[in-house]
Amino acid sequence: MKIFATRKIPAAGLSMLEEAGDVTIAEPVEDAIVARKKILTGVKGADVLVSLLTEAVDRELLEAATTIRGVANYAVGFNNIDVDAATELGIPVTNTPGVLTDTTADLAWTLLMAAARNIVPADRYMREGRYKIWGPSLFLGTDVSRGGDGQSKVLGIVGFGRIGQAMFRRAQGFDMRVLAFDPPIRDLINDTDGVEYAEMDRLLEESDFVSIHTDLNDSTHHLFGAPEFAVMKTTACLINTARGPIVDEAALVEALRTGQIGAAGLDVFENEPAMAPGLRELDNAVILPHIASASTDTRNRMATMCAENAVAHLKLERAPNCVNAAVYDSTAYRERVGPL
Ligand code: DGY
Repeated sequence: MKIFATRKIPAAGLSMLEEAGDVTIAEPVEDAIVARKKILTGVKGADVLVSLLTEAVDRELLEAATTIRGVANYAVGFNNIDVDAATELGIPVTNTPGVLTDTTADLAWTLLMAAARNIVPADRYMREGRYKIWGPSLFLGTDVSRGGDGQSKVLGIVGFGRIGQAMFRRAQGFDMRVLAFDPPIRDLINDTDGVEYAEMDRLLEESDFVSIHTDLNDSTHHLFGAPEFAVMKTTACLINTARGPIVDEAALVEALRTGQIGAAGLDVFENEPAMAPGLRELDNAVILPHIASASTDTRNRMATMCAENAVAHLKLERAPNCVNAAVYDSTAYRERVGPL
């Protein structure tokens, strides 16, 4: 069996792939950009494609991959994959859900706290040796818990799936009032004690912190732009650990620069790894290189899960984390894999 990976996954999963077949990695150097040509050429003759979120698995690539039995993505998000084209071509696609929920929510919370309390500029101030004397106005931030005015702060969660719900649980420890927007699961939200369903406008108007936990698709692209920032509180803080293009980043820079909103904590960017002009100069933005799931244990678990999915593809079994499971009953799949 031939396994083709666009880039290396952690050893815990890689060794499972090596036990299952011959593994070729298009670009084995950890931080090197993979040449698209290497992927298009390397996938020919492969039985399974292991992809990372950095590589587009688009129609062109899927059509070139005439022999693959499935795609195993090393990420929970799969916006890098044209799932419709995969389904049409009879290719099951898998992701790595569940294992990174808490790790990602932890980082979203870290961004929230860091942005609220000016942690990054305060740290820089210390390193630059600028701390001369304590003062009442040094790095004044905003409270996350009740704080000085005794009022609960409001957290608006956009996308109340696994990670959104993990944010909600963290917010309870800070005595926050929680609003959530996620129309398809409105009933689940209303049935959950301690969280209230709110339409986007109300959520934006009332929230002190807004955290994005929805996936990226046509309906969420630029869900946040100038009109949304215009209705948010001028002290509000926006957190994004989901996908960059959900936010119009140029509009966000403008909103942060002009004080339309108070702060932002970003782990993802619209044209990653590039940032919108002006973003890096802003002290009210905390910016991280897409590390929300980056704990050793979680990345290892993502790797074993990705490998389990890849092995299921190879064995022509229904993979445990298939995002287009209907494909297994399609003629396109049967034509691709032959008689079972
Ligand atoms: C994902 O899994 O989608 C994250 O963005 C990276 O872990």
